[in-house]
Amino acid sequence: MHKVIIAAKSDNHVLGYQGQLPWHMPGDLVFFQQQIKEGTLLSGRTSYESAQGLDIFTNRGEVIVLTRRTDYLAPGASIAHTVEEALSLAEKMNTQRFCILGGAEVYAQTIDLADELIITEIHGQFEGDTFFPAIDPQIWQEQRREDHPADAENPYAYSFVWYQKREP
Ligand SMILES: NC(=O)c1ccc[n+]([C@@H]2O[C@H](COP(=O)([O-])OP(=O)(O)OC[C@H]3O[C@@H](n4cnc5c(N)ncnc54)[C@H](OP(=O)(O)O)[C@@H]3O)[C@@H](O)[C@H]2O)c1
Repeated sequence: MHKVIIAAKSDNHVLGYQGQLPWHMPGDLVFFQQQIKEGTLLSGRTSYESAQGLDIFTNRGEVIVLTRRTDYLAPGASIAHTVEEALSLAEKMNTQRFCILGGAEVYAQTIDLADELIITEIHGQFEGDTFFPAIDPQIWQEQRREDHPADAENPYAYSFVWYQKREP
């Protein structure tokens, strides 16, 4: 099972502010939808709730929501109470591509077990309250980078960056 972290972060590593993304970047949303098309999706409960209505979790493959709450229900999604339980659920679903969608708390706990990072860098400085963990260049090798200028729809320049875990 290939485990991929998919995230968008600003140049100062911000992921979110007050429960939302601090930017509106349609170019990244299209890219994001392409990345998650074939996968089983893992989301922290907070991000899952803040993304309701954004069409991320509808008409997709399997979705696993991570929560410590024992009574939590998410219609159409599976629930896991630990990261290990999420991984074993995904294995049972015969998952080929396990897409870890955050937020900050979930990225911090899964970056060490991921095989690949797909990061959208939003080229700006933002106020934030949740941050992406440091990407250690001793562990992660940048494989590919695709740069896009700001345009009429996307107010910031942005880059899609693929990292593979280095062989130990
Ligand atoms: N830029 C991006 O790519 C991106 C992506 C996703 C999210 N975000 C942003 O990130 C922010 C949310 O991030 P966050 O760190 O506050 O929340 P989060 O990671 O989405 O969710 C945290 C919640 O997940 C559950 N959880 C986490 N670890 C767990 C574990 N080991 N076992 C069981 N449950 C666990 C807990 O839920 P319970 O409280 O229910 O127990 C916890 O409160 C928002 O601003 C969102 O917009 C940004």
